[in-house]
Amino acid sequence: METAKKQFNIPIAKPTLIGDETELIAQSLQSGWVSMGPLTQRFEQAVCEYTQARYGVAVNSCTSALHISMLIHGIGAGDEVLCPSYSFIATANAIRHSGAEPCFVDIDPNTLNMDPQAAEACIQERYTSEGVNRKTGRKLKGILLVHQLGIPADIDTFAALAKRYHLTLMEDNACGLGSTYKNNPLGSSGFTNSLSFHPRKVITTGEGGMLLTNDETLAEKARVLRAHGMSISDFVRHQSAATTYERYDVVGYNYRLTDMQAAIGIRQMEHLESFIVRRNQIADAYNQAFGQIEELSIIQPPTYVTRWNYQSYPLRLRGATQTQRDEFMLALQQQGITTRRGIPPMHKEPVYEQGIVLPQTETVSKTSVMLPIFPTMTDDEVRYVIDCVCLQITHLVSAKQPVS
Ligand SMILES: Cc1ncc(COP(=O)(O)O)c(C=O)c1O
Repeated sequence: METAKKQFNIPIAKPTLIGDETELIAQSLQSGWVSMGPLTQRFEQAVCEYTQARYGVAVNSCTSALHISMLIHGIGAGDEVLCPSYSFIATANAIRHSGAEPCFVDIDPNTLNMDPQAAEACIQERYTSEGVNRKTGRKLKGILLVHQLGIPADIDTFAALAKRYHLTLMEDNACGLGSTYKNNPLGSSGFTNSLSFHPRKVITTGEGGMLLTNDETLAEKARVLRAHGMSISDFVRHQSAATTYERYDVVGYNYRLTDMQAAIGIRQMEHLESFIVRRNQIADAYNQAFGQIEELSIIQPPTYVTRWNYQSYPLRLRGATQTQRDEFMLALQQQGITTRRGIPPMHKEPVYEQGIVLPQTETVSKTSVMLPIFPTMTDDEVRYVIDCVCLQITHLVSAKQPVS
């Protein structure tokens, strides 16, 4: 079998740290404000300006932001929240951390996001007209919409659905910073929105997240919950001329972000646009090459997706088995190209096994591969990935031919 000579070692993703973060991190260290100080506030403002959200509450991860989202909307024990199974497990974990349970919905294979029709069918089949799950007795309270891989989900359709069934709509926007929905940045909708700054995302703070909202009361509740339930933040107390005493009216968490992380985030935000431009150039090259190949299926987002940040690049091997997909990944690995399988469905994991079948989610997961994409990827590396993928596809096709 013909194989290309291994020319590169290309990871699936790589954070783009320019080096200009160092001086701002040093500023934090020298100032003595190393946690939840002025740089955290500056980072929150930078993200709000960019996303057009009114309030940003920086936290230590997207999972924490999602957990707080549930709590500020009064979701907890005895409740259920609709979400796609085709997502990273943190989506469902955050629901469970609140005491509620996820109710998994199938995806549209063309958008990789929760299918609004499947969501409505699920509401009608599994719940009474009062929103009580016929099997579990729990009450349906919300929808957690995921903008998977940075592809905006159809917010307006889900907003209408949420309104019809009196549900709270929230957005898991871990991957979607910089993507736009109907020309509006994700984060601007007004629905509680949670971002991730994990190294696999378009910008990173090492670990980190942010809750975005347009509602001042919800923002204030989130600020209190992220810092042990403290009614007045350390930063505000420090600035006060008078002696102030904090109160603890709710049980909170330590979900604080450090100012060193915020320093990295501030610099990352300054480069975000250039990161997204480069990600789109790479995706364009992939789309041009793979869009012509019958055995491959690329995502062609609907028109409401006015910009995709290409946090990840998914490719489907049409008609392939899971074994063939795994062999394809192994062959690329041997040529120095790291890929990842399609997202494993949460409803198949032991912690969330519900005995349900979600056909689209399962097929997409088994036949998908994520290809390397990151801003510092060179044109030669992109070309190499394209050549290796094309070569492996010819192998896959010839393996499928019946031997005469
Ligand atoms: C869709 C989705 N939600 C939530 C998370 C969790 O983000 P974090 O690692 O910042 O908690 C991720 C992370 O990969 C994700 O992809």
